Amino acid sequence: MIKKIGSLLLLLTIPFVLYAKGDPEVGMIKAEVCAQCHGFDGKTADPIVPRLNGQNQDFLYRNAMHYNRGERYDIVMKKVINKVRPSAEDIADITAFYSGLPMMAGDGIITAEGEIGKAIFAKYNCRFCHNDENRNDKIFISKTAVIGGQNKAYLYKSLKDIQQDVREADQFNLMERVLNHMTDDQIRALAEYLSALK
Ligand code: HEC
Ligand code: HEC
Repeated sequence: MIKKIGSLLLLLTIPFVLYAKGDPEVGMIKAEVCAQCHGFDGKTADPIVPRLNGQNQDFLYRNAMHYNRGERYDIVMKKVINKVRPSAEDIADITAFYSGLPMMAGDGIITAEGEIGKAIFAKYNCRFCHNDENRNDKIFISKTAVIGGQNKAYLYKSLKDIQQDVREADQFNLMERVLNHMTDDQIRALAEYLSALK
């Protein structure tokens, strides 16, 4: 199983390295409109808006382009895109800015529900693609998405969106297949656990 995921992961990461890097200083200026919701520090106060600080740039770029092309749908982001009409270069600059900020982090307090989420995270091998539990290791790299320290309500929503196929997470639907087996309570516990990580 692990070997199989490993070879798929290699395939998954290939298209992730092709994107332009952008200029974070220009991005900071261009981010003014995004900061209305995401904040200039990337840590939004609104729990349903994702934190962008320290997020993997390729992931941010890919997802912003998905909204841009209508491949990922969210009513709020759709309105933003329609109003701002950012170019690929704007998105590269803005995502370079946000990804360069100190990485999002929770308070490190794992509640009883969080412990349940931790066990689920281990059982389903999420750490194979998301090594958020070991970010102090020098080798911390997330080729997928940083999810530790993300807003809890947003984590819950994004997991449900992926589970219900409202949002396509990866080209092999690997996450959807794993999440298909989960109950609502299990997804809540995962969100509780992940949001606390730092
Ligand atoms: C009016 C509020 C608002 C503004 C302004 C806004 N966003 Fe968002 N953004 C959101 C919300 C809400 C979501 C979560 C959408 C969802 O659940 O799919 C989101 C999601 C995202 C995501 C996905 C992150 C993830 O972890 O999956 C990216 C990338 C993003 N926004 C980039 C931008 C950029 C770049 C701008 C500026 C051009 C911007 N946003 C402006 C509200 C906003
Ligand atoms: C085979 C690799 C793989 C495995 C295993 C995996 N993920 Fe993911 N995950 C991804 C990829 C790739 C993305 C980015 C998708 C995208 O670009 O939209 C992602 C995105 C996410 C997101 C959305 C983040 C955001 O900001 O929008 C969450 C939450 C998440 N994963 C949680 C999990 C959990 C919980 C598990 C275990 C049940 C898991 N993942 C297992 C590859 C994986």
